[in-house]
Amino acid sequence: MRRRIAMAVVASTLSLPLAGCGMLSATEDAGEATPTKTTDITVGVLMPEKTNTRYEEFDYPIIRDKIASLTQNKGRTEYANAASDPDTQVTQMERMIDDKVDIILLDAVDAHAIAGTVKKAKDAGIPVIAYDRLAEGPIDAYVSFDNELVGQVQGRTLVEALGAADPSDKIVMMNGSPTDPNAKQFKDGALSELKDRVTISASYDTKAWSPEAAQANMTEAINKIGKNNIAGVYSANDAMAGGIIKALEAAGISGGELPPITGQDAELQAVQRIVNGEQYMSVYKPYPQMAEAAAEMAVAKVQGRDIQFDALTRDSVDSPTDKDIPAQLVPVVALTKSNIEGTVVADGIYKVSDICTAKFETDCKAIGLK
Ligand code: BGC
Repeated sequence: MRRRIAMAVVASTLSLPLAGCGMLSATEDAGEATPTKTTDITVGVLMPEKTNTRYEEFDYPIIRDKIASLTQNKGRTEYANAASDPDTQVTQMERMIDDKVDIILLDAVDAHAIAGTVKKAKDAGIPVIAYDRLAEGPIDAYVSFDNELVGQVQGRTLVEALGAADPSDKIVMMNGSPTDPNAKQFKDGALSELKDRVTISASYDTKAWSPEAAQANMTEAINKIGKNNIAGVYSANDAMAGGIIKALEAAGISGGELPPITGQDAELQAVQRIVNGEQYMSVYKPYPQMAEAAAEMAVAKVQGRDIQFDALTRDSVDSPTDKDIPAQLVPVVALTKSNIEGTVVADGIYKVSDICTAKFETDCKAIGLK
């Protein structure tokens, strides 16, 4: 277990805006460091993009609601989404620094390019918690899923889908954005399962995780390898799997002829493709677990509740710029036809009626989803 010395809170250096309020966190534990802030706090939340639905449908609303519930509805979020543009994210983060938010949760578009702005926040006394993607620069903590495990789960499930995988089976690898450190971890995790078991005949890094770029790269791979010679496709996420399927369909491969294709994120369309067999698997990442942990970390940090903050960050990671960053890494599971009910439905992400619309009724019945 990681051990760190809790930071001493020096009351005299802190502003204590308690006047007229007099209220500390209702959940304050006796014996913790003196809270430095009331419940009236502002958390800046920066998300990276909108193509994937998870950020606006799950991550952000869960964080927002949890911050409200941890602060008796007095805390608020200042939210911005960079729509995949690193420069936009810098501007958005600078505005939050100017607005003097109390803390920032940052899901970086470009983990390296944002480092200077992380430093600016730090210099302005605003802590930064890297969310989902490990931003470079002096961050205070990191909360994410176990991203290497994501890749392992994808690779392992693809090998299983191939049955008796043969090292001559030709695979296409569609990896994520090179500016996202997660993409490398997904790739490394997947390769640890795929290497020596299959042949990687083509491998791409996909700019900005773009489904259109994945489609174009897949078309190139089909032309190179031959449409009937592709045994499986490793797609790092669901949105790209959608582009890959379009490319295969344009080449005349559809429905039951599609090779096993992986994904990640449990996007609704992907879950429906799993139901009708177009996509073999996704990775279910329990969003409530991570997003609520992020909100708890942010509130504990602002309130100076070091014991709680330490309890929330028992892991430790290194970034290219910083060592021993306190972290929480949440585990993930493979999502296939067999466990839709026990994952996304059980966690309240989707109702069966969201998944099993008229178009998918027969396929839902066939796998007992009702
Ligand atoms: C996230 C994935 C997501 C991808 C594209 C990664 O950093 O971990 O869940 O699919 O970015 O947004």
